[in-house]
Amino acid sequence: MDRIAQEFVMRTDMLRSPGSDVMERNYKDELHLWSLESIARLAFGIRVGCLGMNLTENTDVMRLIRSTQMYFRCLGKLIFSLPLYKVVPTPTWRKLAAAQDTFFRLSENYIKQVLTDSGDGDPETQDSLLLHLLRKSELSKEEVSATITDLFQGGIDTTTNGMMYSLFALAKNPEVQDLVCQEIRTHLPEGARVTPEVLGKMKYLKAVIKETFRLWPVIFGTARQYDYDVVLGGYDVPAKTEILVHHRVMCRQDKYFRDPLTFDPTRWLRDETTSRVPTYLFMPFGHGVRMCIGRRFAEQQLQLLIIRMLQRFHVECEEAELRQVFSLVLLPDRNPRFMFRRRQGETA
Ligand code: HEM
Repeated sequence: MDRIAQEFVMRTDMLRSPGSDVMERNYKDELHLWSLESIARLAFGIRVGCLGMNLTENTDVMRLIRSTQMYFRCLGKLIFSLPLYKVVPTPTWRKLAAAQDTFFRLSENYIKQVLTDSGDGDPETQDSLLLHLLRKSELSKEEVSATITDLFQGGIDTTTNGMMYSLFALAKNPEVQDLVCQEIRTHLPEGARVTPEVLGKMKYLKAVIKETFRLWPVIFGTARQYDYDVVLGGYDVPAKTEILVHHRVMCRQDKYFRDPLTFDPTRWLRDETTSRVPTYLFMPFGHGVRMCIGRRFAEQQLQLLIIRMLQRFHVECEEAELRQVFSLVLLPDRNPRFMFRRRQGETA
């Protein structure tokens, strides 16, 4: 993952506009390439070549990205509309089904490729989640394929947007960015590998990511139903009622967070303030048995890329504010224009 993060930083470096340092490309598409390359490495143990070439919409990797975006957009619409699609295949339902068909077909190609090549002993492929599940779990081959494909898709749009919000937060809070850089310099000597021990020491960086998710959660909420009637907070809640914890609404309230709209990572480092946060208030990855299975992986991906980015660049952004729009995933309402300025001592 570290290698992918470093390659992505090099790619960002090459794509900056000479002179102005502005990223002229759609940086969200760029981040999609990084997240897809990373998740493919985890799921299948292979490199899918997102970072090395000039990709057109006509390639498998771009089709995977676009079908994931379409799937989330349609699912977001269907979840909060009259469930007509259960009676007739509505246009949104058909788009969702087509997007999923494309995604499953392409994912299946990777699965076949790995299963065909698994005898060749490539250690990275041997280390893949796919082969691991096939060897160690009691799941059938079909169940493993479905699980891997689910996970593969779950890891694309989410991490992309999490990274987008993290970069935005760092760009708009240069003093925070400087402190993260200081932490990186303290724990990671020039040219060294990022190990789990190094990541374990990056307390401030982890607080920055938490604070980013507090203000810009990627998933809008966590929903659950009880099978029986309950009383919650003094309200009678009949069985099967959908109960939703809306992450963004909850995390921006001053009854839970001091100066809720201020980006302040230190609130996650101080006991006396965090103790005011009810246990189930901050859960950007959900909670319980259905919580995000990719959480640790996503956090590690974000940590690695932020480290490698800030080692090379000072990040700035033209937009003053980023609003969020609902598409199941909460998306930025525009593509922010980032500037990546080489840090002093960083040469080509
Ligand atoms: C910033 C990144 C991510 C965020 C914010 C996020 C958030 C979430 C949330 C809130 C849920 C629902 C949990 C619940 O209802 O309790 C979820 C489920 C899930 N996530 Fe993630 N996720 C992220 C990245 C990933 C990655 C990288 C993967 C794959 C490696 C992944 C795979 C999944 C899967 C498969 C589920 C469904 C779990 C189930 O239904 O049992 N996610 N995620």
